[in-house]
Amino acid sequence: MSRVALKGINKIYPGRGGRPDAHAVKDLDLVIEDGSLVTLLGPSGCGKTTTLRMLAGFEIPTTGQILIDDRDITTTPVNKRGIGMVFQSYALFPHMSVRENVAFGLKVLALSSAEVERKVDDILKVMDLSKLAERQPSQLSGGQQQRVALARTVVTEPRVLLFDEPLSNLDAQLRERMRDELRLLQQRLGITSLYVTHDQNEAMAISDRVVVMRDGIIEQDDAPNNIYARPTTAFVADFMGKANIIKVRAERVAADHIVAQIGGGSVELPTNGLELKEGDLIDYVIRPEQMLISGDGPVSSVIERVVYQGAYTEYQVSIDGQACTVVDYRHHMHDARPVGARLPIDLASSVPWPLAPAEAGA
Ligand SMILES: Nc1ncnc2c1ncn2[C@@H]1O[C@H](COP(=O)(O)OP(=O)(O)OP(=O)(O)O)[C@@H](O)[C@H]1O
Ligand SMILES: [Mg+2]
Repeated sequence: MSRVALKGINKIYPGRGGRPDAHAVKDLDLVIEDGSLVTLLGPSGCGKTTTLRMLAGFEIPTTGQILIDDRDITTTPVNKRGIGMVFQSYALFPHMSVRENVAFGLKVLALSSAEVERKVDDILKVMDLSKLAERQPSQLSGGQQQRVALARTVVTEPRVLLFDEPLSNLDAQLRERMRDELRLLQQRLGITSLYVTHDQNEAMAISDRVVVMRDGIIEQDDAPNNIYARPTTAFVADFMGKANIIKVRAERVAADHIVAQIGGGSVELPTNGLELKEGDLIDYVIRPEQMLISGDGPVSSVIERVVYQGAYTEYQVSIDGQACTVVDYRHHMHDARPVGARLPIDLASSVPWPLAPAEAGA
């Protein structure tokens, strides 16, 4: 059982040589439930690595508290925290076999050689590495090396695993395979994990929760599907793939929806519990694939650009002068649509997501 809690964390790197202080992490509260994998996601410099390094013990928070299972480890030395780390470069020892590399992780613990052998054999089996045990790293594929690096960390039975962009050195295909494999292993071992990446798809694919950061602050901490489909800020909507943010004037406000005119048609849009009133101008987030192209769709758009993408065709359209992206996955079923043509859109089955009015125009 290992539950991690970061409470009220601030990290200020003091400025040197006239440079100002860097407030890298601001009032951060974060919980990683036992056995779950939480990903920190965000643009370069938003504080991901700093947060990870504070949990690992390489940095001490300026203020705040870090707990593992309610034990305060804020200032506990790195090697006393029971934390394992997997880095971007695997840092395997080139002159050692796979077995020796994995056993190396156990060197610091006072174990008999029989115990070491048993633990190493077990983990090699779990990681599907038994057949490769006598090879050297140079005789392994990138994915296999990655697995050895993970085995070397996991064999020490850490209570918490930390990953800082562990897949960013791999090519796209291997990256996807390793990502799925990593997630399967993490779930099978049930190790509480914090994962850092700036790849949105990777974050959504492997996480129980995704924490989107910006300038040291948590913008949204949520399940992957909510981060994508129900973003709470324009930043999150934009950062997580293509998002149409359409300004809509509320004509009528009912208990849980508003009625508005978009593209010459009348549509109902959810309020998501926001206090809206007649006449409010609201930003709605609608993903391209949620804008269904349909002959009797009430929303009229005009095609301004057509981009063929193989699996789908992407249309840049204008709705009441607002630029939007629409994708057509059924483009093989009909003739190509030309620039200037009217594209009718149905929003009925989509989940347009309103941003709180304070965010409008952000
Ligand atoms: N040792 C340090 N001294 C001073 N400033 C630092 C130090 N480490 C990081 N920073 C600053 O703190 C902020 C957060 O850095 P951090 O490395 O946590 O970002 P990141 O989200 O991991 O970015 P990336 O995606 O580029 O790895 C940045 O503005 C960075 O310049
Ligand atoms: Mg980083």
